[in-house]
Amino acid sequence: MAQATLLVIILLVLGSSFVTYNLVTMIIHYGSSESVAIDVGTLLFDPITEMPSHVKNRKRSKAPFHVAVTASDTPYSKWQCRIMYYWYTRQKNLPGSEMGGFTRILHSGKPDNLMDEIPTVVVDPLPVGQDQGYVVLNRPWAFIQWLEKATIEEEYVLMAEPDHIFLRPLPNLAHLGLPAAYPFFYIQPEKHEKIVRKFYPEEYGPVTDVDPIGNSPVIIRKDLIEKIAPTWMNVSLKMKYDPETDKAFGWVLEMYAYAVASALHGVRHILRKDFMLQPPWDFETTNKYILHYTYACDYTLKGELTDDKIGEWRFDKRSHEQRPIPRNLSLPPPGVPESVVTLVKMVNEATANIPNWDTL
Ligand SMILES: *[C@@H]1O[C@H](CO)[C@@H](O)[C@H](O)[C@H]1NC(C)=O
Ligand SMILES: *[C@@H]1O[C@H](CO)[C@@H](O)[C@H](O)[C@H]1NC(C)=O
Repeated sequence: MAQATLLVIILLVLGSSFVTYNLVTMIIHYGSSESVAIDVGTLLFDPITEMPSHVKNRKRSKAPFHVAVTASDTPYSKWQCRIMYYWYTRQKNLPGSEMGGFTRILHSGKPDNLMDEIPTVVVDPLPVGQDQGYVVLNRPWAFIQWLEKATIEEEYVLMAEPDHIFLRPLPNLAHLGLPAAYPFFYIQPEKHEKIVRKFYPEEYGPVTDVDPIGNSPVIIRKDLIEKIAPTWMNVSLKMKYDPETDKAFGWVLEMYAYAVASALHGVRHILRKDFMLQPPWDFETTNKYILHYTYACDYTLKGELTDDKIGEWRFDKRSHEQRPIPRNLSLPPPGVPESVVTLVKMVNEATANIPNWDTL
């Protein structure tokens, strides 16, 4: 009797796993979102050993993340935020997206004229003098205040910047307690071991535990960023007040501060090169999620990159500090990489569709 029951159970288990497997593959084949497919799988049975590795390594349930971008009230920050928000709204509901709500964390201390266009939470800037003329020190302080005052429905948060364009629907690249980050080639904790050690003492572990990242883009569980943010703030300020560190790290100081702060909390990141691409150095947008237009793109009319010289054709966000970038920018000459062409097309599409582009 007991044996018969056991046999029935085994058959049931085998059966359901078989059904689940087919259901999962079927949904993956026809459906749109990988995570939805796995959702169905876990409802029935978790046939983890029977699954091909590309299926079993995926997450089990949809884990939406809140998109948070820190911003100032300058015209420069505003036009970038408007383009970013436009592309967020375009990608958010497409298959494969796990993008949740959106917040512009405005660290100017007062509302501005984009409050009706973009969901915004106003937070205080750093006290006068504390920012040392280095505006990005406001970032950790902005996140601390936002996490304290806002009710965030999602369990995860994407920390992003205004000059990010969502190329496609973004899934949650984090996995449980492991946040996802983009590895920057110029963040090299090992190369700066002596300096990093001032803030990451030996008892915490090897310098290689400090990931080559900044705070953005990062998808991270809310409870983890709540722990890291105050340390990130402290480390940023300490680094800024230390002349040797300030000189060595320059404009990427606050990125090192995040990398060190997360390591101090024992948090390592999944490094995803497909998280982002940076024209003009990266040529193709294929399979990448975020386009970061931080570098100037300067080309001759023959489509050759000019070294540090103003190009006959150019795209440079810094040429538009006082006013919104114009609508209908001219496309680059033939021969320019696809990533740059895509950037200009996506900026043009956003500015053509955002009402009151020039007048707000
Ligand atoms: C930040 O620094 C202040 C002053 O040094 C200290 O009182 C506070 O405990 C620190 N907080 C964290 C989270 O490191
Ligand atoms: C955009 O600019 C091109 C020339 O670069 C022009 O031919 C076209 O009509 C313009 N489109 C709009 C919508 O203004």
